Amino acid sequence: MQNLSRRSILTLGAALGLVAATEAPKAWAWSSADSIAGTDTVTDPWDVWDDATDPLLASLLDSNQIPGVNTAFQSWVKNGDPLPSGLPAQLTSYLTTYNKLPSWADQAKLDLAAQFNKRMSMYLFLLYGLGSGIMSTVIPREARNVYWSEGGAGMKMRAAKTFTYGYDLSAVDAFKPTGHFVVTSTKTRLTHAAVRHLLPQSAQWRAVTDNPIPISNGDILITFHSLGTYVHRKLLEWRSFGLKMSAAEEAAYLHMWQVALHLLGVRDEFIPATWAAADEQSQYVLTPLLGATPEGIDLANILLNLTSSVDLGVTKGFQREFSRYVLSDKIGNWLKLPRDFISRGVIEVGWPAYVLFREGLSPIMPEGFSLFDQFIRGLAMLFLNNGTSTSYTPITIPTGNRPG
Ligand code: HEM
Repeated sequence: MQNLSRRSILTLGAALGLVAATEAPKAWAWSSADSIAGTDTVTDPWDVWDDATDPLLASLLDSNQIPGVNTAFQSWVKNGDPLPSGLPAQLTSYLTTYNKLPSWADQAKLDLAAQFNKRMSMYLFLLYGLGSGIMSTVIPREARNVYWSEGGAGMKMRAAKTFTYGYDLSAVDAFKPTGHFVVTSTKTRLTHAAVRHLLPQSAQWRAVTDNPIPISNGDILITFHSLGTYVHRKLLEWRSFGLKMSAAEEAAYLHMWQVALHLLGVRDEFIPATWAAADEQSQYVLTPLLGATPEGIDLANILLNLTSSVDLGVTKGFQREFSRYVLSDKIGNWLKLPRDFISRGVIEVGWPAYVLFREGLSPIMPEGFSLFDQFIRGLAMLFLNNGTSTSYTPITIPTGNRPG
């Protein structure tokens, strides 16, 4: 059994029925010519983790220093804050090097992205929440990682932390000294590195995965496509309902995600340089890997129940149908989302009319206007209540896995 490559082990495992075949990505063939780095190479991102961060986190976890780090991090929230005192010296030195924007970050584009996020906020709440958030549960690796990690046992807290990331990313000053996003991203990068050390110690996780170490660069790219690329595609689709988005705004929105990926430790050679390149990568890495898992079905249900626990002015059936509407019935069926055909009819006709009216392109207020309005405002409030800087749920580095 010597010299077996990771991929041949995966193929063998899948052939023997030992693992879910959907988890194993096919051999990488996306050329980095269309990446930020622009180098014409074909490196497999599923074999790339985070060399700069992973050994550091492993050592901090093994020497029980993470609780102290989490305490010190409480006062470190804004991009312009000085590094907190009392951190282990290696971590201070790491943060000095990595807690910053890449040299290619373009502040003018980031400013335009911030304005765009503000203008589109209602649509973004909806698409990130009922689209991307639920899509993450049909990405088998992500669903299993989230389920078996420490935070998987408390999805309300986890959702609140994810909202923190989204809120910080979408704030007008996200990338400025008064904003929070660079720090929040660095904390997330450290969290992912901790998970890479911790999850392989979970027997339950090892039993359901083909993946020796979680959260590779390839995995992060998949999640990016379920967020940025998916939302961009939906907004393009909704242009036929009257939504306006200029080419400069599209480019700025991509740039924001490019910087976000860099801050999460994705190598520049994997970050798509254009939306065309992102779409191509997404067709390649996201679409074929989507599938149902018991963990994902459970997580989707928990997430949708969290959302419907606030008054959105609609029934649970309507909310589930909206998720189907933005994601596809194929995904809805995988997740066993209940059907409500009457609500679906209302959505199919009412949503385009609502967007048209909201964008000022139709003088006629559609019949279901207040229904859609309360629905979308309810989602926004849910997001904002969790993510505002006053009731902030800080991202903390885990020290264990989901209990037994
Ligand atoms: C933690 C964002 C990709 C698995 C987090 C956190 C954020 C985040 C904000 C901290 C909040 C929390 O602890 O719950 C992102 C973003 C991604 C990404 C923006 C890509 C664009 C991934 C991928 C996986 C993953 C690809 C797995 C395949 C996890 C896990 C945790 C985590 C297991 C820790 C949960 C815990 O504390 O137990 N991520 N993530 N993430 N992420 Fe990610």
